[in-house]
Amino acid sequence: MRPAATPQADSLLVTDIHTLAAVKPGPRRGSEMRDVPMLRGAAVLIRDGRIAWFGPQREAPLDEGLATLSASGGCVIPGLIDPHTHIPFAGDRSGEFVRRLAGESYLSILESGGGIRVTSEAVRAATVEDLVAENLPRLRRMLERGVTRVECKSGYGLAPEHEIKQLEAVRALAHSQPVGLVATYLGAHAVPAEFDGRPDAYLDEIGAESLLRQVAAGGLARFADVFCDRGAFTVEQARRYLERAAAAGLKLKVHADELAQIGASALAGALRAVSADHLERIDDDGIAALRSAGTVAVVLPGTSFFLGIEHAPARRLIDAGLPVALGTDYNPGSCMIESLPWIMAIACCQLRLHPCEVLTACTANAAAAIDEHTRAGAVAVGFDADLVMLEAPTVERWFYEPGRNQVRAVLRQGRVVYQRPER
Ligand code: NIG
Ligand code: FE
Repeated sequence: MRPAATPQADSLLVTDIHTLAAVKPGPRRGSEMRDVPMLRGAAVLIRDGRIAWFGPQREAPLDEGLATLSASGGCVIPGLIDPHTHIPFAGDRSGEFVRRLAGESYLSILESGGGIRVTSEAVRAATVEDLVAENLPRLRRMLERGVTRVECKSGYGLAPEHEIKQLEAVRALAHSQPVGLVATYLGAHAVPAEFDGRPDAYLDEIGAESLLRQVAAGGLARFADVFCDRGAFTVEQARRYLERAAAAGLKLKVHADELAQIGASALAGALRAVSADHLERIDDDGIAALRSAGTVAVVLPGTSFFLGIEHAPARRLIDAGLPVALGTDYNPGSCMIESLPWIMAIACCQLRLHPCEVLTACTANAAAAIDEHTRAGAVAVGFDADLVMLEAPTVERWFYEPGRNQVRAVLRQGRVVYQRPER
């Protein structure tokens, strides 16, 4: 059926799409992740920044005055979503990177006062403007690789004023460039030096009811997150902090099962967290808890690659019927990788996920992990027209050649926000 054809200045028809990867809205569980309709010879009609229609191009309206944009015979996918980053950060830990290559572990560096505390010093010394200036180019490069939404965390301020400063930097970044940002309050990331040996006292400060309410009510963050692991916070500490955060109106995320299995994913399930992230060491209890809570499992293969630790059992998580998302974990310590397509290649070639599973993980399910799945991450009528035009004609052809950027153009809410210069 042809859509009603009223030519409008704010309408745009994307034409000449060889394959439209029409990812369905998330969360997509288990075997659903592989089911991505591939529409050949397609077109997409955009109105007021949203998808108004999509289907075979021969059925599309071609009324005079309707602006068109050719996909030049390439594949079109929904904008990629990175549901786990530590943007905005500052500073450099390349020295630590080399120490790890020489055999020191991430955990031993963390326990000896390095790691997160080093980045914390740099973030404390930075102003909001400094953080914006350092992180704008990162978001720009992510956009050039097809990423249209990014989750950003605090967690390097480690004191109320500096945590708030980081969240204010996220807000300023959101107003300065086209990638959509969703903020997470990660006050419980590490114990700062001035609270050495007194984690509960630190959590009382960083998880104070008044502070959490200020963060939630002021719209500074949508989520609260905690690093619940060996070398960070215990399950009991995490539980108290997260319960207070939920009472203040924040939705929950947990850094779980990255370095050790201490029951963090079981906690995420028990508290009905929106996502549990990392999961390198998840066990059967954790999987069962996430499944019954409907929590999205966010797998971060770049961290395993960068730290040289085991991968999360992504295949097992999908086969257990969970909605699995993929993210970069982009941060200066455990994964200085900003390229989501690179992470997607690792997921395909090393975790043996099917390209359609990976695409779903980085669109519909990533949207679910940041609670944006009713408007983003899919090709569906009424959804934000966030679309990526690829050089490759098909999804398979795109995944097959992971080492170069195949993004030709990016649309965000119907506007062209990136176009690759002609070569
Ligand atoms: O997700 N695991 C905790 N936090 C980060 C690393 C932060 C850092 O090392 O700066 C992560 O891996
Ligand atoms: Fe992380």
